[in-house]
Amino acid sequence: MKLSRTLLSAGVALLLAAPVAAQAKEYKVGLLLPYSGVYAALGKEIDQGFELAVQSRLGEIAGSTIEVVREDTEVKPPVGLAKTRKLILQDQVDVMVGIVSSGVLGAIRDFVHQSGTPLIVANAGNDDATGERCSRFITRVSFSNGQVNRPMGEWMHRKGIKTAYTLAPDYAAGHQMIETFSAGFKAAGGKVVGGEFTPFQTTKDFGPYLTKAKAAGAEAVFVFYAGGEAISFVKQYASFGLAESVPLYGSGFLTSPLYVNAEGPAAKGVITSLHYVPTIETPENAAFVKAFSAAYGRAPSEYAVQGYDAGQALIEAIKTGAADRAALAEALGKARFTSPRGPVEIDPATNNIVQNIYVFETVEGNGGLTQKILDVVKAVRDPVNGCQK
Ligand code: PHB
Repeated sequence: MKLSRTLLSAGVALLLAAPVAAQAKEYKVGLLLPYSGVYAALGKEIDQGFELAVQSRLGEIAGSTIEVVREDTEVKPPVGLAKTRKLILQDQVDVMVGIVSSGVLGAIRDFVHQSGTPLIVANAGNDDATGERCSRFITRVSFSNGQVNRPMGEWMHRKGIKTAYTLAPDYAAGHQMIETFSAGFKAAGGKVVGGEFTPFQTTKDFGPYLTKAKAAGAEAVFVFYAGGEAISFVKQYASFGLAESVPLYGSGFLTSPLYVNAEGPAAKGVITSLHYVPTIETPENAAFVKAFSAAYGRAPSEYAVQGYDAGQALIEAIKTGAADRAALAEALGKARFTSPRGPVEIDPATNNIVQNIYVFETVEGNGGLTQKILDVVKAVRDPVNGCQK
């Protein structure tokens, strides 16, 4: 399904006044996101962040145009691969942006690499995509699963938690998030006493899993859930009565500002970690929150920032005058931009972003639930993990 096409063109007046630069080009961008399924809200938020960056910085590529072709990956690896093939072979896009699910990223990686089409990953944390299966055509401006979770294992142990029980959906991201959290927790001296993976996208009742988690007798429960599954899980954790006896921790997608207010009071007191929260106090973030809120009527989440920075990286790459896909890929790997989330850089060894990780508690604020930053782990960089670009 072709969702829509947008043609973004830099000021006509400017074109008339000045001769068109030699490298002026029509860039075709494939936006590959879930516009349906459990991650649909995430896809929409990334899309809006991307649009905001491109619209507001379009003047910097005067003479060139950006045409956007949108495709729905749903949350299904075979669908994601079919849409990737369509964008590359039929639409002949110059560059692709998006991918939310680690499962979809794993499925398209080889085709993307072999076709030599640059891909800016705007969510999917699949560790392999910037590790063992890295590619000079893949640049990630979002996060890696390990980057978000490894520091949290150490942090929790430092706060006196010695035992934990884990839960996550049964697919690539669930496994990697739990594996890297557990590695950090164990390295610090903690013990994971048990855990389970729940069927992805089909689990509606977490009751049986919560019964087992309670019986395990751990001091804390650590989970990864996102989107619709996060809302159900957090609500059921509280209504099951577990929140009073065993505190809930997780990767911050669990209590994303995108849907934390749908979770309601059940989310209060949950402590998680993430690469962005809208409460970061810097002039860059204040400007971003203001611009995003003005455009869409709500505060931005981590997904909005990922879309925004994907747009910024694209603009920077186009500004180099990159004439073909290989040049675009190279420029993307070297892109420098100011992110609302704090200092960032693309690691030349892996093409994964280097960034701060914020540990935060969800608390009651003036206009609903908000994020209280408890700690910042600075400049978290992934190990090279076998990447040979
Ligand atoms: C992933 O599949 O990599 C993924 C999905 C949703 C998130 C984070 C990671 O919020």
